[in-house]
Amino acid sequence: MAGAIMSNLETGQENHGQGVRTAAIVTRDLAKTFQARRGAVEAVRSISLDVERGSIVGLLGPNGAGKTTTLRMLTTLLPIGRGSAQVAGFDVGREPHQVRTHIGYVSQLGGSDEVLTARENLHLQARLYGIAPMQAASRAQSLINQLELSTYADRAVKTYSGGQRRRLDIALGIIHQPEVLFLDEPSTGLDPQSRANLWEHIRSLGAGGMTIVVTTHYLDEADALCDDVYIIDQGKIVAHGAPAVLKQQIGGTAIVLEWDTPPQASQACELLRSAPFVREAVLNETLLRLYVDNGSEALSALLHRLEQAALAAHSLRLSQPSLDDVFLRTTGRSLREETVEVH
Ligand SMILES: Nc1ncnc2c1ncn2[C@@H]1O[C@H](COP(=O)(O)OP(=O)(O)OP(=O)(O)O)[C@@H](O)[C@H]1O
Ligand SMILES: [Mg+2]
Repeated sequence: MAGAIMSNLETGQENHGQGVRTAAIVTRDLAKTFQARRGAVEAVRSISLDVERGSIVGLLGPNGAGKTTTLRMLTTLLPIGRGSAQVAGFDVGREPHQVRTHIGYVSQLGGSDEVLTARENLHLQARLYGIAPMQAASRAQSLINQLELSTYADRAVKTYSGGQRRRLDIALGIIHQPEVLFLDEPSTGLDPQSRANLWEHIRSLGAGGMTIVVTTHYLDEADALCDDVYIIDQGKIVAHGAPAVLKQQIGGTAIVLEWDTPPQASQACELLRSAPFVREAVLNETLLRLYVDNGSEALSALLHRLEQAALAAHSLRLSQPSLDDVFLRTTGRSLREETVEVH
């Protein structure tokens, strides 16, 4: 499997008349506006991606951020609104057929036929890609092994658990050995164990040389899986980098304080924002988030200041910077709280 993918990658480095291909995906100011009944919806405003071959890249953002719309444009399922995109070295607008033969796409809803077995689904998919019957059967078997589906491979898909279905969806997406695989929300709705298992499989595909783009609204998924993350909000990239680098930029510790009313929080923000131990303060209604270098030192100093000003907070917690902090810093809103209670 890995060998076959590698040979595709080698082919991918040939000159296709557009110059030698270096990146798996390049987009510039990709945008899409839908004309809905209630007016125009700017689903994607400006997405510029540079995805290296063989990397696992995450598009992380809240519901409605434009992740699926971006993926649908990159996979030729939706015409590009504005901007440009190359996938696997081919222009998405001008060479959609070439793009399609080099990519795999696993939609948010999956694509298996419930009444068929995994083996039948895989065989059918392979035949749809024009793979000869003998080879289709052997590819189906090798994917059944690779994605650990052998126990249920000959049972109807409707009897599968969520995690088993998702692994089959991925197998269906890679039966033709694509260079680039797009996974839309791969682990939504799965229990923690099935998610971890799915991530292992995705990682091993990445290790085999496949370029993988994952959309997710799970911070932990982006963190655990991706070499590189684009944080997307309202159709735009608000931050980009390796998860560790993005978190490092936030630095130190986040102290999250809450008051009963917004005026109290705002007064406290004014009081603390200029303190020497505060790197950055983000106020959101009754919540104040302070980024500090040394959590415990800063904590005692800020508690003292608040007490003196009669502005004691009703709750307080410390958290290590997460990708949510990166999102919060750039948008002023939270993707999801992931904090460790200290009191
Ligand atoms: N065909 C369409 N017509 C009108 N609006 C659309 C259409 N498709 C998507 N949208 C809107 O575009 C925005 C982005 O949708 P999209 O599905 O790309 O978001 P998403 O980031 O994938 O969200 P989720 O995490 O919920 O899957 C949303 O406001 C959505 O309602
Ligand atoms: Mg989506």
